[in-house]
Amino acid sequence: MTESVSITVDDKTIVVAKGANLLSASLANGIYIPHLCYMEHLQPAAASCRLCFVEVDGRSGPVPACTVTVEEPLTVRTDAPAVRRLQKAGLQLLLSVHRVECKNCPANRRCELQRIAKFLKVGLKPGKLAQRFKQPEIDASHPCLNYYPNRCVLCGKCVHVCRAQHRDVVLTFARRGFDTVVGCYGLSGSSAPSCRDCRACIDVCPVSALLPK
Ligand code: FES
Repeated sequence: MTESVSITVDDKTIVVAKGANLLSASLANGIYIPHLCYMEHLQPAAASCRLCFVEVDGRSGPVPACTVTVEEPLTVRTDAPAVRRLQKAGLQLLLSVHRVECKNCPANRRCELQRIAKFLKVGLKPGKLAQRFKQPEIDASHPCLNYYPNRCVLCGKCVHVCRAQHRDVVLTFARRGFDTVVGCYGLSGSSAPSCRDCRACIDVCPVSALLPK
């Protein structure tokens, strides 16, 4: 029988299976924590978006909830001022390289960035950070997909599902630093046999940075 552990998140006591992921357990119990890169079956978590910060009693500073495994009773705050500061700064960083054109974007109203900005009660603006964009605006080199680098939040979900579903991986991160993009390789000519019947990367993208041609 699975052992359970009682944890307190924002004064709400919830009982979770020992070994559960804190972000997953919180979401499953109706406690929203902003997140972009977490995938339940991907362990250890990529923890790349740095949005899911929480305070955990006994830890010296905020930690990403997706990296916390519940092994013992915990007291967690998801709304502490330090947490909110980090989340807002993380969101502004993303928005400094994100083309905000919601009205023309297929993700409008189901976009995770919109959801997070609304939750944090901030606008979809980069604050004091200067905006920088990548060129070209659309990478159409894939025979079935178009990729929009200035929408992409580099959460890595598409790369992960591609790796999980196909023996011959198609999507991967390419370049470095600000220039990092999701790229495709291993495609010959107009053929992309593993992609033609697969929409996994499109479906998992939180911001419609990948769309079918
Ligand atoms: Fe935890 Fe992205 S969801 S760092």
